[in-house]
Amino acid sequence: MSRLTIDDIQAMKLQGEKIAVLTAYDASFATLLDDNGVDAFIVGDSLGMVIQGHDSTLPVCMDDMVYHSANVVRGSKRTFVITDLPYQSYTTPEQTLNNANRLIKEGGAQMVKLEGGQQQLDNVTILVANNIPVCGHLGLEPQSVNELGGYKVQGRDEESAARILKDAQALQEAGIQLLVLECIPSSLGKLISKTLTIPIIGIGAGVDCDGQVLVTYDMLGISQGHKAKFVKNFLDDKNSIDAAVRAFVDAVKQSEYPAPEHSYQ
Ligand code: KIV
Repeated sequence: MSRLTIDDIQAMKLQGEKIAVLTAYDASFATLLDDNGVDAFIVGDSLGMVIQGHDSTLPVCMDDMVYHSANVVRGSKRTFVITDLPYQSYTTPEQTLNNANRLIKEGGAQMVKLEGGQQQLDNVTILVANNIPVCGHLGLEPQSVNELGGYKVQGRDEESAARILKDAQALQEAGIQLLVLECIPSSLGKLISKTLTIPIIGIGAGVDCDGQVLVTYDMLGISQGHKAKFVKNFLDDKNSIDAAVRAFVDAVKQSEYPAPEHSYQ
């Protein structure tokens, strides 16, 4: 079986098929998620919290991301792999290119993800010029948790909603091919998904995004601490992890997840 490509993911948006995405950090979970129909993995820097036990993603370093990305790639055959550039690993275009190269060459990623809007345009441009596919990440940007003053819903007032939409459009123009929107009102998730031509993957961004992502450990109810409103435990009424993953994929494909109780107004 060959691995999905960004063209396959883009075709899903054009055909109106919802995209089911989960985080993955190791080979065993990657195999299980791959076998149960997950379309894309984010090897997320959320691993700093759910694997390493930190209270934010900030301590995660490039070596961590390369290591976990390579494990996920070895464990999977079909699923498209997106790997995060961690905190402070893309402060200049040169550093961004070097670190993205490591994620592709050593980590086996097919696409790299970075957080931020207008301030990332130079970094996106150099990656695109060097044939490295890029995924953006707007709304709640966990690497900016100290600046934001916590993990808060973004884009609730007119001005910040307009800024997120403008950032999304600027990133698309600069060449990103996928965008994650985190913790924003459903109406803004819908507007951006309809306005942009690239696929939009929501996490707490409403049911009208082109796809949905959850941290796998949240989806299985094994994460510790505060649970965000958008989190649903798919293992609750199932008797295996395989069944829980299939339930997540089906719920995304049928637009049954996120329900209104998992969404922000
Ligand atoms: O780090 C991460 O896991 C992520 C996804 C949840 C979007 O960025």
